[in-house]
Amino acid sequence: MKSKRISDKMEKLLNTQMTTEAYQAQVYLSYASWAEVNSFSGIATFLYGHMHEEREHMFKILKYINDRGGETQIEAIKAPPANPKNIGDCLQKVLKAEMDNSKDIDKIVNLAHEEKDWATFNFGQWFVKEQIEEESLVNEIIDKYNLASNETSDNNSLYEMDRDLAGHSQEGDMPREEKF
Ligand code: FEO
Repeated sequence: MKSKRISDKMEKLLNTQMTTEAYQAQVYLSYASWAEVNSFSGIATFLYGHMHEEREHMFKILKYINDRGGETQIEAIKAPPANPKNIGDCLQKVLKAEMDNSKDIDKIVNLAHEEKDWATFNFGQWFVKEQIEEESLVNEIIDKYNLASNETSDNNSLYEMDRDLAGHSQEGDMPREEKF
């Protein structure tokens, strides 16, 4: 058994964040499925892909808690919100979810700073960078969507944008070190 190297408060906060990441995965899963049945297969592919990213985030936190001698609590995941009204609404909701998640990550980094827990501070920086990337990625897609939906009176641009998104990277354009 490893000696515990994180505070009880940090252990609790990291556990909460682990469940939040699992919830984020549920949100992406539910929106992806909605997009798929509404014939936006490209957006669905992108959202399914991102669901996996969120599961990886969850797992990264689980491993960190265990590595630092803490104990993980696997808890129930709340249900995702209602389906979006349309693709624009879907993307705005995804952006809001990412911005809320960034605030939650900040709580970990703030506590680590307060406790002079530099290991967790360092760990948290990966997520800080990840959130910058994710917000930037979703903003980029929203820009494309706005352009496509304003460009023509028919649905051709939206169709092309959707097709384009199927092969869209899960990463933003900003350089980042290896994931983990
Ligand atoms: Fe795990 Fe989208 O942040």
